[in-house]
Amino acid sequence: MGQGPPSRMKDRKFKPAVPPSHVGRKKRKQKGPEAAARLPTVMPLTRCRLRLLKLERIKDHLLMEEEFIINLERLKPDHEDKKKKNRSKVSELRGSPMSVGTLEDLIDENHAIVSTTLGPEYYVIILSFVDKDQLEPGCSVLLHNKFFSIVGIIQDDVDPVLTMMKVEKAPLVSYADIGGLDDQIQEIKEAVELPLTHPELYEDIGIKPPKGVILYGEPGTGKTLLAKAVAKTTSATFLRVVGSELIQRYLGDGPKLVRELFKFADDLSPSIVFIDEIDAIGTKRYDACSTGELEIQRTMLELLNQLDGFDPRGDVKVILATNRIESLDPGLLRPGRIDRKIEFFLPNVKSRRHIFEIHTSRMTLADDVNLEEFVMTKDEFSGADIKAICTEAGLFALRERRMKVTHADFNKAKEKVKVKKEGVPEGLYL
Ligand SMILES: Nc1ncnc2c1ncn2[C@@H]1O[C@H](COP(=O)(O)OP(=O)(O)OP(=O)(O)O)[C@@H](O)[C@H]1O
Ligand SMILES: [Mg+2]
Repeated sequence: MGQGPPSRMKDRKFKPAVPPSHVGRKKRKQKGPEAAARLPTVMPLTRCRLRLLKLERIKDHLLMEEEFIINLERLKPDHEDKKKKNRSKVSELRGSPMSVGTLEDLIDENHAIVSTTLGPEYYVIILSFVDKDQLEPGCSVLLHNKFFSIVGIIQDDVDPVLTMMKVEKAPLVSYADIGGLDDQIQEIKEAVELPLTHPELYEDIGIKPPKGVILYGEPGTGKTLLAKAVAKTTSATFLRVVGSELIQRYLGDGPKLVRELFKFADDLSPSIVFIDEIDAIGTKRYDACSTGELEIQRTMLELLNQLDGFDPRGDVKVILATNRIESLDPGLLRPGRIDRKIEFFLPNVKSRRHIFEIHTSRMTLADDVNLEEFVMTKDEFSGADIKAICTEAGLFALRERRMKVTHADFNKAKEKVKVKKEGVPEGLYL
């Protein structure tokens, strides 16, 4: 058996292998172009078969490669499918609807304490897909609606309510539309606009510019009007808030809103924060007993804190407005917080004339109208009353389909406004 195969091998080698392989190749190489015309040497079966097998192996290999490449391409969309599946799984875990809470404290990697607008605080799990680097006490987080586990972070920490407060479209009131009030205009310009536009002037003289001003006086004397004119003329960002807006929301939101308001103002500086009807939050401290009043107080304390916290040369100025300055907390008005108090008086004769001129400038008046009579009146009319008289007179003319407003219309309008004014119970203004 052992000798068999070698002898067989010898036979095979000897017969087919030697002549064709050596001779054939050499001939082809030597004779070059002639080789093309020559018939191929017919190989013995086994050799051809071996070549065939080899080529088949290569073909198999290539086929495998092709299949592999096709599969790779087919796997790609599989990846996206997987991502989609993962995403839907994450949103399933998050659940919907989600509620928003505030992160109070981080306990460890996976646990935290959150507070919700509902009141109580919860010890909750932080889900693994939440980016823990972005979690910090005080940030707003998304909570699962049942388990209150943290399922996400609210990136934008500016409250949408704050962006609403930014006055984008300037009101149509300019300083020219304000009758009288020249001193007040001068003062507010000095206290609010000048420090923002020319801080160097204050530095030269060596005084600190006021942090803010408070406008106070009888209702309808033009406080809000003046603030509107400032908003229109200033190139600084103007943020407008009404005192009641700061406390109308959920319990505990007021102080946070004040804090965010000033942070927002700082981000957009130079800016002016105008808080109208400040008496809604700025009432005297330590006479509150109910939760609601305490909440109002906390909001005001935060306001005081923010007023203290500024750099006095900072680019945020505050304008407050109220018609009940006597009810405000003295702390709010002490020098160092709101330094400048600008009082608004009922208009005198000269201002009244000016206000009448402003409000009748666009009206078509009959020739018999003598506004002097109303200007010289002894009644105490505020700017708002004068505006009301002009509007009422216009309405009387409109009712009778007249194109011009007559003196009689003004007379009737004046009586009407007077009755309205006197008809209001006195206690309402106290
Ligand atoms: N000095 C003025 N010149 C021209 N118009 C005035 C003047 N004062 C008041 N008015 C008119 O009266 C309207 C009401 O005034 P405004 O809203 O400024 O009152 P206010 O002082 O803010 O009152 P309140 O304390 O009740 O908020 C204004 O829209 C304006 O048309
Ligand atoms: Mg007002």
